[in-house]
Amino acid sequence: MKITASAPAKINLQLSVGALRTDGYHDLVTVYQALDLRDQVSITERAEGMGVQCSVNGEFTDGVPGDETNLAVRAVKLVAEQVGVSCDLSIDIKKAIPVAAGLAGGSADAAAAFVAAAELYGYGGDLQILAAQLGSDIGFSLIGGTALGTSRGEVVVPVMSRGDYCWVIMSSTNGLSTPRVYQKLDQLRDEGSVRAPLQLQPKPELLQALLAASPTDLAKHLSNDLQPAALAIAPKLQRLLDAATDDGALASIVAGSGPTCIALAKDYEHALDVAARITATNLANRVLVAKAPAPGAELVSKDRN
Ligand code: C5P
Repeated sequence: MKITASAPAKINLQLSVGALRTDGYHDLVTVYQALDLRDQVSITERAEGMGVQCSVNGEFTDGVPGDETNLAVRAVKLVAEQVGVSCDLSIDIKKAIPVAAGLAGGSADAAAAFVAAAELYGYGGDLQILAAQLGSDIGFSLIGGTALGTSRGEVVVPVMSRGDYCWVIMSSTNGLSTPRVYQKLDQLRDEGSVRAPLQLQPKPELLQALLAASPTDLAKHLSNDLQPAALAIAPKLQRLLDAATDDGALASIVAGSGPTCIALAKDYEHALDVAARITATNLANRVLVAKAPAPGAELVSKDRN
């Protein structure tokens, strides 16, 4: 049996980061949105006792581990463990989401692997509970759409959003490590150069803009507390953010912990236009256009081989 599932990249329309907790994570309030940029994960049964083997291909493969540290490998093993069966699978990950980019590509792979493994093993338990054991963003990758994330990001509830939002995704060559960006934020706060939010709550204006299907209003209320930290580590990203708004984008912001920068356009045609201009600057190593919101992790196919 071969089962394929896919899951989306995510962006954060709001990422408000609170204090460092004793478990090493930060409390946060975030508004997630899923992009129509998806990784695919296929799992194929192997003979009993052969264990898990993982291969990674597609557009972005650099730095993705094929061993048991890969989140997709950990996800299928976790489902097999819950069901009480031996996990003997080939996993094939087809990556369209840039790696270490702040777009939750690893979380998407885990979410797709959860959905595929749950189908294969007939697991009917709550995947959200398993997702929280592996990473903060995987719960969102499972549900997709637009959602509010709280605690360390793993507690998600859908948020009403109307219309489509068209984003220009500008990726950089060098990935940024998420823990390093959070540490930098703590350092900047300790030094007093950046302030922590007084209250952790979703911005009413942002939720209102989503209800109004208004990219122009949404652009005014995008925020990312990790942006100063990402820029402190990778100052060149500021040029990319500025180029996007100079080239007519409604707003530009660092995606999650970066280094990907995202720019909001008025509509799809406008996004293509901004993307062409950014491409011509040579500031980004890859420029894509993606629509949001998009569905969460879902089955793609199921074949007897
Ligand atoms: O949960 P995930 O594995 O995606 O998190 C990666 C790292 O990002 C954590 O080990 C932690 O250093 C940082 N992080 C954080 N607070 C969060 C989410 C992530 O400090 N809410």
